[in-house]
Amino acid sequence: MIHIFAEPTLPAAVQDELRILLDEAFPGFFNGRTHIKQQPHFRIVTHQRGNLITRVELDYRVIRVGAEGVCICGLIDLCVRKHCRGRGIGSRLLEEGEGQARKAGVAFMVLMANRRDIYSRHGLEHVQATKRSATAGAAVAILR
Ligand SMILES: CC(C)(COP(=O)(O)OP(=O)(O)OC[C@H]1O[C@@H](n2cnc3c(N)ncnc32)[C@H](O)[C@@H]1OP(=O)(O)O)[C@@H](O)C(=O)NCCC(=O)NCCS
Repeated sequence: MIHIFAEPTLPAAVQDELRILLDEAFPGFFNGRTHIKQQPHFRIVTHQRGNLITRVELDYRVIRVGAEGVCICGLIDLCVRKHCRGRGIGSRLLEEGEGQARKAGVAFMVLMANRRDIYSRHGLEHVQATKRSATAGAAVAILR
């Protein structure tokens, strides 16, 4: 079952489950925390038989593109418990994240990824890093 939590409403029990998932999916990065720098705006999580098996975070921003202010949604650290991978669970959460971003009327969905497979299959396009942006592996889906 999919749940969406606004960050201030995230229950302590879900935070504890997130720590386990994050430390398994990204060893050495979270070190027991539930976020790296900033807390996200929303968390989307899925439970299966009472256990948290997957999560992704959404962050909303307005950026300037030329003269226009454009709403974008950052999709952060999609991950699935190891024993549940390869069954389309990550894809379903990606679709849910995209659905939420569409409902919010954003123009672009943006994420950083080392590997592109799952994202390119869902229509995200790789954006070449420029000299001013050192981030490799950025991907963008145009939603508007
Ligand atoms: C990426 C991840 C969320 C996919 O979840 P999932 O439930 O297995 O996803 P699906 O079953 O819908 O799709 C599986 C496909 O995802 C792709 N995939 C696997 N690992 C991936 C990764 N690290 N980054 C991008 N795509 C990946 C593969 O193409 C895989 O297909 P295959 O098994 O036929 O090779 C999961 O492997 C995971 O949690 N990995 C560790 C955390 C991570 O690297 N997250 C991505 C951060 S950018």
